[in-house]
Amino acid sequence: MRAMKYDLGFLGGGQLARMSIHAAQRLGLNCLSLDPGTDTPASQVADAIVGSLSDPNSIRKVFTQCARVTLENEFIPAAAIREALAGEDESRLMPGIETLATIQDKLLQRRAYEKFGVPSPPAVDLVDLMRNRSLLPLPLVLKARFGGYDGRGTRFARDEAEFLANAADLGDGSGWLAEAYVPFYRELAVMAFVGNETGCFPTMETIQTKHVCDLVFPSGVDASEVALAAVAAVGGRGLFGVELFETDSGEFLINEIAPRPHNTGHYTLDWGCTSQFEQHVRLASGLPVDSRPRGLPVCMANILGVDGELDLRAATDAALALPGVHLHWYGKREMRAGRKMGHLNAVGPHETIVDLARLARSEFFRAGVHTA
Ligand SMILES: Nc1ncnc2c1ncn2[C@@H]1O[C@H](COP(=O)(O)OP(=O)(O)OP(=O)(O)O)[C@@H](O)[C@H]1O
Ligand SMILES: [Mg+2]
Repeated sequence: MRAMKYDLGFLGGGQLARMSIHAAQRLGLNCLSLDPGTDTPASQVADAIVGSLSDPNSIRKVFTQCARVTLENEFIPAAAIREALAGEDESRLMPGIETLATIQDKLLQRRAYEKFGVPSPPAVDLVDLMRNRSLLPLPLVLKARFGGYDGRGTRFARDEAEFLANAADLGDGSGWLAEAYVPFYRELAVMAFVGNETGCFPTMETIQTKHVCDLVFPSGVDASEVALAAVAAVGGRGLFGVELFETDSGEFLINEIAPRPHNTGHYTLDWGCTSQFEQHVRLASGLPVDSRPRGLPVCMANILGVDGELDLRAATDAALALPGVHLHWYGKREMRAGRKMGHLNAVGPHETIVDLARLARSEFFRAGVHTA
């Protein structure tokens, strides 16, 4: 292969690319990112190209300059990447294009789990369900097959009235799936990896508030087996964020997986062992991976944007005054309500970290946000 200017290219220039680039740079790797925005979190720390993530021509620019390429979101159309590669060696991309195509359609993802016997809620095409209501009983969750995140594209149909109200909005149901509502005990997440070693980071509990990840902390259970089965079902190579439901009887069901670093793996930045970002970079670059990443107990709290002015210095002062608290700020130019702006990691004895992370976040906002 001819020499490339960059070792690793990222499709997407948000916080996941930024934190991966930080890890890559520590390993001496040169990085490039592609994003439609200017002054992105990734462009502040490495070279960047401005261009559409669905345009094969801009994606091709990354492949022509980077030895290996990976991505930070699964919404980049698999067909655009395929066209950009135009028959060239697909193994330079992680995850593989077929895996990406399966994951980015939530219905194909569910079918892959079904085919390989991986426990996950039964799902059908909403078009089929609208024609034949006996396919799946209520209560149901309706999901956009493509492009949903942070709960956008997720609707609940707990009873007939809710189903009909949604149906009125969704035409013949095309582009949507329906799946069984899972009355879960709690939600879990596991970072799983498949490369020169295969394994998992610890299983974490996640608290979602209004469908957005709010807190992440150790769960005390191990869902590695089902997480790896889900990755295998989509033919995955690389790093995957696996979201699961745990039922009252202790059963694990796969909700969804993402072929990249994940919000629920941010705690690894401060746990004193290989971070999810370093593992991602090692996997994407073909470096040896950490076969058994294990570190200190950490609780992560997301910092979501709010209305009002932020005094970041005052907020940081207040949060860092608490021993064991670490701040990761993404450098986004604009704060919008609900936007992921950064996160806090609280490190310490297991029984203290959730309270410490919550306290750090409330201190951050108390000291730093002034509403009119
Ligand atoms: N089948 C289900 N039964 C019960 N609750 C569900 C089900 N599917 C999703 N949910 C709830 O809705 C949330 C969002 O769903 P999902 O993760 O599928 O969507 P998303 O928009 O991709 O979310 P994100 O980007 O936050 O991961 C889940 O975290 C869970 O709380
Ligand atoms: Mg989710």
